[in-house]
Amino acid sequence: MKTLTVSFYDTKSYDRQAFLDAAGGDAGMECHFHEFRLSVETAASAAGCEAVCVFVNDRVDAACISMLAELGVKLIALRCAGFNNVDLAAAKAHGIAVVRVPAYSPHAVAEHTLALLLTLNRQIHRAYNRVRDSNFSLHGLVGFDVNGKTVGIVGTGKIGRVTAELFRGFGVRLLGYDPFPNTEWAAATGLEYTTLETLLAQCDIVSLHLPLTPQSRYLIKAETVAHMKRGAFLINTSRGKLIDTTAVIDALKSGHLGGVALDVYEEEEGIFFEDHSGRPLLDDELSRLLSFPNVLITSHQAFLTHEALAQIAGSTLDNLHRLRNGDAWRDGTAL
Ligand code: NAI
Repeated sequence: MKTLTVSFYDTKSYDRQAFLDAAGGDAGMECHFHEFRLSVETAASAAGCEAVCVFVNDRVDAACISMLAELGVKLIALRCAGFNNVDLAAAKAHGIAVVRVPAYSPHAVAEHTLALLLTLNRQIHRAYNRVRDSNFSLHGLVGFDVNGKTVGIVGTGKIGRVTAELFRGFGVRLLGYDPFPNTEWAAATGLEYTTLETLLAQCDIVSLHLPLTPQSRYLIKAETVAHMKRGAFLINTSRGKLIDTTAVIDALKSGHLGGVALDVYEEEEGIFFEDHSGRPLLDDELSRLLSFPNVLITSHQAFLTHEALAQIAGSTLDNLHRLRNGDAWRDGTAL
């Protein structure tokens, strides 16, 4: 059988382990794992490879794709669901196929969304540090009951739906906004679809579960934050550029937003997934966000469960095998 050579970018030990476990010693696949990200500056490293495997912060723009085409790369395999970092038109023009992992444990991201909300609301992050410092005071740790609140789910796709179902367990009123509403599921779940404006105006908690597209960029900006209820909590586990960080910082300073939990940040590339301890953090807006006691940030880790990693590795290998065998991609994987 023909051997397929693949360059993997922006890999960490947990990615490599998941892929090696899923491949199970597949002799037909030669994997080159790189820690650096793919961009036009690093694309030369794909020489001799028929496929590249990339993640959320690799910069696969037109210049990078043109170089990959010159090197004979036939496939860009995203090991994630979002594909906003790949220039699909450029790939098409060069005859390079682009595939992704359209679905993997939506529970991983939905459960992390709930973990962020509960941690921030009940101030578990602050309590954890206090108690370890023998400070058993409860001052400043007052939260609210999630029960009885109104929760808004923006984007009711795979992850938004699981998130809504988890929230339902708390006994909340559920509002949803999606240009393609899933009315049958909504009726069964007890979610009411409404406009984005009404959702923002009525919800105590707003959670974003939509893809980043030119239309959804800065969905949350000064004008939309102004529609939000005073004291509302905003959670973003989707993509950083859905939020105008400057507007959110202003709303935190004025007290208009009660809390912000982020797993993604608009300028996360080059910061998230890396250890920057021991050096100054050069991103002033991220530093400002981190200075608020009512902001909780994780470093794009919502997907990071054993189950999700195994599913990502399995689907990506399946996509690569299809290239090797000349088979068509499965529905939803090809872009
Ligand atoms: P999906 O494709 O199943 O659902 C997305 C939903 O958003 C669809 O129902 C779509 O109609 C809706 N939508 C599109 N434009 C919209 C708009 N302007 N306003 C409101 N809704 C809109 O996607 P899935 O699997 O639920 O993932 C959602 C997002 O989560 C992904 O696009 C990705 O950016 C993010 N994600 C983050 C991860 C993390 O580790 N933090 C991991 C996986 C995904």
